[in-house]
Amino acid sequence: MKPLIAPSILSADFARLGEEVESVLSAGADVVHFDVMDNHYVPNLTIGPMVCQALRDYGIKAPIDVHLMVKPVDRIIPDFAKAGASIITFHPEASDHVDRTLQLIHEHGCQAGLVLNPATPLHYLDHVMDKVDVTLLMSVNPGFGGQSFIPSTLDKLRAVRKRIDDSGREIRLEVDGGVKVSNIGEIAEAGADMFVAGSAIFNADDYASVIQTMRDEIAA
Ligand code: DX5
Ligand code: ZN
Repeated sequence: MKPLIAPSILSADFARLGEEVESVLSAGADVVHFDVMDNHYVPNLTIGPMVCQALRDYGIKAPIDVHLMVKPVDRIIPDFAKAGASIITFHPEASDHVDRTLQLIHEHGCQAGLVLNPATPLHYLDHVMDKVDVTLLMSVNPGFGGQSFIPSTLDKLRAVRKRIDDSGREIRLEVDGGVKVSNIGEIAEAGADMFVAGSAIFNADDYASVIQTMRDEIAA
């Protein structure tokens, strides 16, 4: 599958969010990664469905990848679907009924995925490989941008890559946390095909050049 670059707007200038998202998309990004934190499941508080809707109203047409770091998770799903989410991912520890939550996301017309924290075992995927469109591996502990990539994620990526290939389904393998120009090559080699990057893109002066360099590193 074509590699997708998904800038995390957590590191964007929130006072100019619409413009920031527009710039990063015209700089070549494929997907908008939208981090939702509730100060309960993770120790930080960010944005909700109103902001997703505001981006759609502003004219953003690209897919919006909503990463829910909230507990409980089910009741916010219909709101995000209505607000224009394209993909909704959640942490299995934050749902009492993982299979039901996946179904709920699909019933609302979005693609669905599970997010596994650095210490979350892969067995959460065991009985849902036929129901996920995306598997997201966290390469930092969720809650903040700008943390360092945890190297053991590479082995985990290889293991999930194998499960996806064995499933015979088209499932995205997304990685989130500490992704930079300097490590995106090895992350791609380990099997990821969707790359979230927040600080690496938004802290740069030239978004287009970072995104192009990332693509070159993925292809190398
Ligand atoms: C962390 C978020 C990430 C974060 C990534 O909990 O899920 O999406 O914004 O930021 P960087 O790329 O700076 O590690
Ligand atoms: Zn995220």
